[in-house]
Amino acid sequence: MLAKRISRIQPSATLAMTAKAAELRAEGKDVLNMSVGEPDFNTPSNIVDAAVQAMKNGHTRYTPGGGTKDLKLAIQKKLDRDNNLSYDLNQIIVSSGGKHSLYNACQALFEVDDEVIIFTPYWVSFPDFVSVTGAKPVFVQTDPDNQYQPIFDDLESKITNKTKGMIINSPSNPTGGVWSDEAIRRTIDIAKSHSLWVFSDECYEQLTYNRDFRSTFDLCKDYNRILTFQSCSKTYAMTGWRIGYTCGDSTVIQAMSKLQGQSTSCPNSIAQYAASEALTGDQSSVLEMKKAFHIRRDLIVNRLNDMDGVTCDTPGGAFYVFPNFKEIINRNVSGNKIKSALDLCMMLLDEKLVVSVSGESFGADDNIRFSYATSEEIINDAMDRLEALLSEI
Ligand SMILES: Cc1ncc(COP(=O)(O)O)c(C=O)c1O
Repeated sequence: MLAKRISRIQPSATLAMTAKAAELRAEGKDVLNMSVGEPDFNTPSNIVDAAVQAMKNGHTRYTPGGGTKDLKLAIQKKLDRDNNLSYDLNQIIVSSGGKHSLYNACQALFEVDDEVIIFTPYWVSFPDFVSVTGAKPVFVQTDPDNQYQPIFDDLESKITNKTKGMIINSPSNPTGGVWSDEAIRRTIDIAKSHSLWVFSDECYEQLTYNRDFRSTFDLCKDYNRILTFQSCSKTYAMTGWRIGYTCGDSTVIQAMSKLQGQSTSCPNSIAQYAASEALTGDQSSVLEMKKAFHIRRDLIVNRLNDMDGVTCDTPGGAFYVFPNFKEIINRNVSGNKIKSALDLCMMLLDEKLVVSVSGESFGADDNIRFSYATSEEIINDAMDRLEALLSEI
C-alpha cells in the first residue's frame, strides 16, 4: 500500500530514545536522560522578546518561501562576522530547521543511481535523507583516534563514477569530532577532483573547545560546489523554533526554494524574526553556554576514562561523547553475553534508568553516545550509575 520510499527510511533512533525516557518518567521512575540532542538552556530572553514583538507587530502571516529579506540580511551579517563568508541574498535559503535544509538539498540534487559519501560514525538522519531520494549512501571509515577524520585511502576507494556528493559534519554528531583544517582541505581536494557536491553541516559551529571553528567554504573558497548548512537550534538553544539555513550555489538554492514553496510554504514567520535577533543581537549567551558545555565535556570525559574497560577520546566540539565499550561488550553477565552496544545501552536503561543512544544507530557497533547537554549533577549521577553497572558485569 505505502510508497516504496517509506520503506527506505528508518525512524530516528535518538527521538525513539527520548520518547522511551519520557515514558519511563511518566511512570514515576527516576530516569536520567543522556540522549538529548539539544541544549538544556532556555532560549535567551532577547530572542524570546523579539518573537513577542514580531507577533505584536503583526508578523504572523506567510513570508516569502525561502525566508524574509530581514533574516537573510541577518544571516549575511552573521556569516561575515563569524565565518568570514560572503553570500548574495539569492544564495541563501531559510528552512524549518537544519534538518529540513539538508533534506531539501538532498531532494534537489540526488536521485536514483547516484551515490553519496557519508562518513562513519554519522548523524542518524544522513543515510535516510539520501535513501529517500533513491540514491545510495556509501560509507567511509574515519579514525577514532584522530577526531574521526577521514581515512583517505578508504575515501578514494569508495568514489565511483556514480558518486555525486558527500556530507561532512564537523563538529560531529555523534562523535563530537572536529576535523583539522588540513583534513577538510584534503577532503575537498578529493571532492573537487571528482566534481562532487559537498554538504558541510555546520550546525555545531559555535561549539568548538580547543580552537576556533573554520567553515569549510572559508577554507576552500575556490570550490563552488560547497553548500554551507547552519542552524539556530544548538547555538541559541532554539531547537523548537525550527530555523536553519543553507548557503551556496544559487541554482541549488532556487531549486530548494521551489520544493519548499510546494511543501511547507515558508518557515514560521515569528521564529524568523526571533532568528534575526539571535544572529545579530547580543551574543553573550552563546559564550556562556559554550563555557558550561566545555566544563561538562571535561567532566564526562574524565569520568568515562576512569572506568575500567572504557576508552573515551576528548571530542573537540558539539555536546556529545562517544566512548568505546569494546572490552566490555564481550564480557559475561550472569551467563548472558552482552553482544552489542545496544545490549549494554538497554541494560543501562533497564537496570540503572540512564538513557543513552547505542552506536549501531550511527554506524559504530562498539560505542554509545552520551549527550552532556545536561547539568553537572546529572552527568555525575549518570556516570555513577554506569560505573556501578560496569562493576557488576
Ligand atoms: C549533525 C546535525 N545536523 C543537523 C541537525 C538538525 O538540527 P535542526 O533541524 O534542529 O536545525 C542536527 C540535530 O540534532 C544534527 O545533530
